[in-house]
Amino acid sequence: MEALHIIGEEHQSLAAILHAIRFMLKEVTAGRLAPDLKLFQAMVHYLDAYAEQRHHPKEDLLFNYLPQRSSEGAEALAELAVQHAAAPQRIAVLQQAVSDYAADPARFGEFALAFETYADFYRRHMLLEEEVVLPLVRRHLTAEDWTAVDAEFRAEMAANSVSDGSKADFKAMFSKLVDCAPAPIGFGPRPYRD
Ligand SMILES: [Fe+2]
Ligand SMILES: [Fe+2]
Repeated sequence: MEALHIIGEEHQSLAAILHAIRFMLKEVTAGRLAPDLKLFQAMVHYLDAYAEQRHHPKEDLLFNYLPQRSSEGAEALAELAVQHAAAPQRIAVLQQAVSDYAADPARFGEFALAFETYADFYRRHMLLEEEVVLPLVRRHLTAEDWTAVDAEFRAEMAANSVSDGSKADFKAMFSKLVDCAPAPIGFGPRPYRD
């Protein structure tokens, strides 16, 4: 059940980043925090490279086992499949909003709104996974299924490891983001540098 553990940890990291961005947007809006455009851009990049490009495909590997064992959760699986497939469009809207804001600081409000929409979607998405699909996966997958899916996860992680220096190290990226985010959600504020 290593796969379940990995998905759980990834949800925690993603929820933390979503929470951090939401907190910063609120503080900037209230005039209590100077906006750090580079930090917002880095966070959006993290959501793209990690949440959308690496996390959902691993979930698909895991969720694929459920219909082989049970017809339960078919509707939720279909909904999640549509949501996973729409990742490029979803992140493109957010990226456009952050670059519009980079080009024109007056568009901060639009970026904040685009982010709220994204975060609301993502929260509902994770809830559907955590409250409907993951409990069914836990209940119905066999020991052989777990051995197989754990191996698939290990292969995915190995294929995308940082050993060649060309792939993103998401743990390091996460720490760096949290380091710059303002207290009490992070250890900053301090300016984000690439
Ligand atoms: Fe997902
Ligand atoms: Fe997920």
